[in-house]
Amino acid sequence: MAQSNGVQINVENLTHRYNSKCPLTFEALDMQSTPGESLVIIGRSGCGKSTLLHIIAGLLGGYKGTMQLNGQDVKDPSSKWVMMFQAPHLFPWMTVEQNVGTGLRFAGWSKDKIRSRVNEAIALVNMEEYADKNTQDLSGGQQQRVALARSLVMEPDMLLLDEPFSALDAFTRANLQKDVRAISKQIGFNLVMVTHDIDEAVIMADRALVMAGSPGKMVHDLKVDLPDPRDRTDPEVQRMRAHLMEIFEEAAGGTLVSTNV
Ligand SMILES: Nc1ncnc2c1ncn2[C@@H]1O[C@H](COP(=O)(O)OP(=O)(O)OP(=O)(O)O)[C@@H](O)[C@H]1O
Ligand SMILES: [Mg+2]
Repeated sequence: MAQSNGVQINVENLTHRYNSKCPLTFEALDMQSTPGESLVIIGRSGCGKSTLLHIIAGLLGGYKGTMQLNGQDVKDPSSKWVMMFQAPHLFPWMTVEQNVGTGLRFAGWSKDKIRSRVNEAIALVNMEEYADKNTQDLSGGQQQRVALARSLVMEPDMLLLDEPFSALDAFTRANLQKDVRAISKQIGFNLVMVTHDIDEAVIMADRALVMAGSPGKMVHDLKVDLPDPRDRTDPEVQRMRAHLMEIFEEAAGGTLVSTNV
């Protein structure tokens, strides 16, 4: 799998509403992220997190303001920015290998090239022994690993994740969090992840952004400066968790505050 240079994300003065009868989703929203950074966005239900993710991925228009990746306006989706959702959305009648190769088949790749890239991605997510199994016979966590491999074969510069682990049990979830962060750092792509889970934010983030209000805005920008690999039982991780929880509970409008712990 080739190394990625990641992307510079630049959101400035972003205003959005779904249609003229809807209130503003967010107004004058600013957000930046540097190449290779892992950014986690948390905030209460309905403040616009998923909407923002869809705009960054080029899946949703109808906004005013600046939305640029590497200095270019984002107009359309691209195979270089890949979105993962809570449900893995696999084809249940296909094997793991076939599911992971779907995007490359659509792109017209040769069978040999697909096989080699698919095998690499399946190895990255530790699913080699399941490569020829049908995905309907896998657990929820294994299915999410397949969805992750299907994203990785596209060699993304940015992986966007909308609460991707929220349907999984705590143990499976913790393993996936650790692996997704490690893979993103190994390859160099950006992560932009939405979650409701403060633990997940602290384990996954280089920076955590707290969103609040209606219309939504960014109210806190926290640098999560912790060494890897991160362990929930580490006192430093617990201290950061308590700090982020405090910020989250206090988040109710106001201007953007940056803190380093
Ligand atoms: N397709 C749509 N048409 C109209 N309004 C919408 C649409 N999708 C979302 N909204 C509204 O926009 C606002 C933001 O929704 P969004 O899904 O981005 O929130 P969220 O922060 O992701 O919430 P959650 O944490 O519950 O997933 C909400 O008030 C929601 O009702
Ligand atoms: Mg959402």
